Amino acid sequence: MWTDGRLCYGGDYNPEQWPAQVWTEDIALMRQAKVNLVTVGVFAWSRLEPAPGRYTFGWLDEVLDLLHGAGIRVALATPTASPPPWFSLAHPGALPVTADGVRLHHGSRDTYCAATPAYRQAARRIAAALADRYAEHPALALWHVHNEYGTICHCEQTAREFRRWLRTRHGDLTGLNDAWVTSFWGQHYSDWAQISTPRATQYLPNPGHLLDFRRFWSDTLLAAYTDQRDLLRAANPAVPVTTNYVLGDWVPVDHARWAAEVDLVAIDHYPSAADGGAEEQTALAADLARGWARHASARRPPAVPAATASTPAWLLMESAPSQIHTAGRMHSKEPGRMLRHSLAHVARGSHGAMFFQWRAPVGGAERFHTALVPHAGPDSRVFRETVELGAALERLAEVRGGVEASVALTVDAASGWALRHPGLPSTRLDHHLELAAAHRAFWRAGYGCATVTPGDPLDGYRLLVVPALYLVDDATTDWLREYLHGGGHLLVTYLSGTADEHARVRLGGYPGALRDLLGVRVEEFHPLADDEHVRLRDGGTARIWSETLRVAGAQVVSSYAGGVLDAMPAVTRHRSGAGTAWYVSTRPDDATYRRLADTTARAAGVVPVCPAAPDGVEAVRRRHADVSWLFLFNHSDRQQRVPARGMELLSATPVEAAVTLPPGGVAVLREKAD
Ligand code: GLA
Repeated sequence: MWTDGRLCYGGDYNPEQWPAQVWTEDIALMRQAKVNLVTVGVFAWSRLEPAPGRYTFGWLDEVLDLLHGAGIRVALATPTASPPPWFSLAHPGALPVTADGVRLHHGSRDTYCAATPAYRQAARRIAAALADRYAEHPALALWHVHNEYGTICHCEQTAREFRRWLRTRHGDLTGLNDAWVTSFWGQHYSDWAQISTPRATQYLPNPGHLLDFRRFWSDTLLAAYTDQRDLLRAANPAVPVTTNYVLGDWVPVDHARWAAEVDLVAIDHYPSAADGGAEEQTALAADLARGWARHASARRPPAVPAATASTPAWLLMESAPSQIHTAGRMHSKEPGRMLRHSLAHVARGSHGAMFFQWRAPVGGAERFHTALVPHAGPDSRVFRETVELGAALERLAEVRGGVEASVALTVDAASGWALRHPGLPSTRLDHHLELAAAHRAFWRAGYGCATVTPGDPLDGYRLLVVPALYLVDDATTDWLREYLHGGGHLLVTYLSGTADEHARVRLGGYPGALRDLLGVRVEEFHPLADDEHVRLRDGGTARIWSETLRVAGAQVVSSYAGGVLDAMPAVTRHRSGAGTAWYVSTRPDDATYRRLADTTARAAGVVPVCPAAPDGVEAVRRRHADVSWLFLFNHSDRQQRVPARGMELLSATPVEAAVTLPPGGVAVLREKAD
């Protein structure tokens, strides 16, 4: 139902914050901007259920009817991310507890523990009441469950649930003691009752304990989501159900695993950088969303559009019209950046562009958060750009199909969690940052990238990048071996394969799980200080990490220059089966990494999406049957010319030889086949 042929455009709409006269103006402005989907009711629990079991749906009836009358569809939210004050008073035991044992109080949002039955029951009750009333409403396009599942709790109830989960995972205490290596520091457990959540403790905690708690908590939040999803689905199986993912490596959720439980992957994306970093973060976030979408529920209703036969579309559910939160301040997006970021998501398969939020509030915690209708009102640059974006999205309604990508990068939630544990050889290890550095190198060099999680099908990818995949179980080793022996090209970076799925170090030389595939053996790590770098003999430089690496079958591609590792191998290449495996024992600096990206891509036979695109211009191609669309983004501050042919859709102008892009400009061409 939400695929009425248009790309989705709109955002979080909070009519409960405004008197009804404003709603009429909202609708008129939404029509002017060609808004066609709004998320309603995200935090409206206390307005919908002012007292236990007493509902006030009148205002929401009116809002949904108004929106429907204007042809605007609704992603109806369940408001369970913000329990009402009466709930917290009645159920103080459902308030969350921090790792320090402090019980948090009402006063913000997310003040609940997702493991407590009282919260889960209350959440199901309000979701069921909404389903009962609105499941057949003609404006309903999508259910938007909760908001950004991302809280953690350490209460007694959570500890009980954790113990239950651990019994299922490990079977008995022998298995758990072995997995957690409790022989170290005499942590051996002789009774399940001795195990709590990993609360604040005296010194370094146990890594197996930390890791299992993360896994358990992701599953607990998922169960809170599926509770609601199941009853919403039952009320009307034709309406897709989703929840919006919050990105960030601190988030306690395994998004890939969750994707199998949503009908549509939806992400919120707020880059944390204001400069070119925002563009590369946007590209990575969109590639991640597309990767997760491949796992999305196979039983999704037909209303969810397919980007390709095997991949459903995904949706950018929230982004910022203007201000980006950077360290210590908000940075206003420059003119044109809202359009550029939005279309960069569409280029990578998002079925539209949605925002937080429609209208800026007069008060409340997020009173200065950006909105499509800012405090200044519709007579403002931001609203003018809002109207412009609505028109642009309408012109792109024909775009569909898969995204061209020959390079896949591996992402793994558990490796991300494990590399945040204390007690590692360096505090600068970060799976997500290593993924971002690798992605940046290939993105800047113009290669189409995709993300995969271990075990995903790899057909169509000529090069698989494995950045700091710290935890590798036997199934993942087999997955990599099969890819390599089938003729694939692998680029593995340091720490990958060092530990098993329980975060136990694999013995015999690093990287234990991958030594044979890579033809190398690492004897010792040499983490670098913050201000330290290493030089490579090919002229490159690198940071963060270095290793005593011995080849065991591999060829040396580049060696360390100077220092204790002088002349020892730094980058290697190994023929294995029909494939080639590269190993990088340090973190190359951006220019060095980009050269490595080119070298490995060329060896794998991968070419950039638009080889003629100059530096500073990003090119992304989508393809459906025999039609292709080329998105060109000029991220530089100078005019750029890109040889291309086709119909430029934003300006409806035929292009015969080349597109000229002003600084910050975007073009979308329906390409002409040669
Ligand atoms: C998140 C939330 C929104 C809002 C915005 C603010 O993504 O989902 O409710 O807090 O951030 O930027």
